[in-house]
Amino acid sequence: ALEPTRDDKFSFGLWTVGWEAQDQFGQATRPKLDTVEAVNKLSELGAYGLTFHDNDLFPFDATAAERQHEIDRLKGALDATGMVVPMITTNLFSHPVFKDGGFTSNDRGVRRFALRKVIENLDLAAELGAETFVMWGGREGSEYDAAKDIRGALERYREAVNLLGDYVTDKGYNIRFAIEPKPNEPRGDILLPTLGHALAFIETLERPELVGINPETGHEQMAGLNFTHGIAQALYQGKLFHIDLNGQRSIKFDQDLVFGHGDLQNAFSLVDLLEFGGPNGGPSYTGPRHFDYKPSRTEDINGVWDSAAANMRTYLLLKERAAAFRADPEVQAALAASRVAEINQPTLNAGEGWEAFRADTSAYEDFDADSYFGGKGFGFVKLQQLFIEHLLGAR
Ligand code: GCO
Ligand code: MN
Ligand code: MN
Ligand code: MN
Repeated sequence: ALEPTRDDKFSFGLWTVGWEAQDQFGQATRPKLDTVEAVNKLSELGAYGLTFHDNDLFPFDATAAERQHEIDRLKGALDATGMVVPMITTNLFSHPVFKDGGFTSNDRGVRRFALRKVIENLDLAAELGAETFVMWGGREGSEYDAAKDIRGALERYREAVNLLGDYVTDKGYNIRFAIEPKPNEPRGDILLPTLGHALAFIETLERPELVGINPETGHEQMAGLNFTHGIAQALYQGKLFHIDLNGQRSIKFDQDLVFGHGDLQNAFSLVDLLEFGGPNGGPSYTGPRHFDYKPSRTEDINGVWDSAAANMRTYLLLKERAAAFRADPEVQAALAASRVAEINQPTLNAGEGWEAFRADTSAYEDFDADSYFGGKGFGFVKLQQLFIEHLLGAR
């Protein structure tokens, strides 16, 4: 089962395989990739979905006819291959007008333009049947603390997302929003820098049920955070509406490597969580497995397709390894010895309130921490070595 199929729900951004590999220091490595070719090739490799920003598909200054022409070409390719568009998003970062942000630019005219650009794109999302609308606010932020009133900016962010919620509700669109956090780049500091910030912000909205998050592996890791922990919290709060899988090696610029080519152990625990962390050991997440990576600057078009295939194969390899890890009787014994399942047992007895709890002298007055501890460890290292051995294919 290392051959990707539609059932695996692998999707790719048009801006990923389509990236020409220009950067601040040098020109593009690759020519522009045609949308139809991207759809055909991704389909051939086993993906089921394509995602895009409005301006990945048609230029910022496209006329209505040019825009429609590109949409029609995309639809033709989707019809021919059976590929779908599960998610779309809006480019509020490339044009210099957005240098101080879209929804939160200090310039009110820019904010009104940005909001309209998103509304136009919501109509396209509905037309293409996309059920998730990602909002990555890469330019929402600042370099200088005195230059941005952060509370004002958050209020404008809120105003924007509230209006978009009204729009999809009034239009009857079957679309939910997913905010994508990132700590920095292109701004010195970006608003809603981590998934935790985004989750807290969502609760301030008028329609919080319409808004979840789209966490990206590398973005949480750029902030030094544990991506698997973050995804677990998003699942716990019912907010994992979408996911951007890629690779990042520690706290540095956004590397957008192939999934698994960064922190491989964390990628392994993530796949284990997504695929086997749900009810009765099934999946905990059933949405698209979306890759948001950048084929390295050193690669030609062959390297692009090798890297696209590598994302899916690595995911499936980790899924296979996680299944073997879960099925191994020694792992089960180590999990039991480490009392991993005991965390799901409530700390209080059924019906126990603070009064009964306080009256239980065994919990405190008669609790002898020294003898209770008795020098006994949890055995987590043994469990971790089994995890590593499965990851290495040694078991
Ligand atoms: C990044 C971000 C972006 C967004 C994408 C969606 O790497 O900084 O992932 O790629 O995901 O633009 O709007
Ligand atoms: Mn990224
Ligand atoms: Mn992303
Ligand atoms: Mn990206």
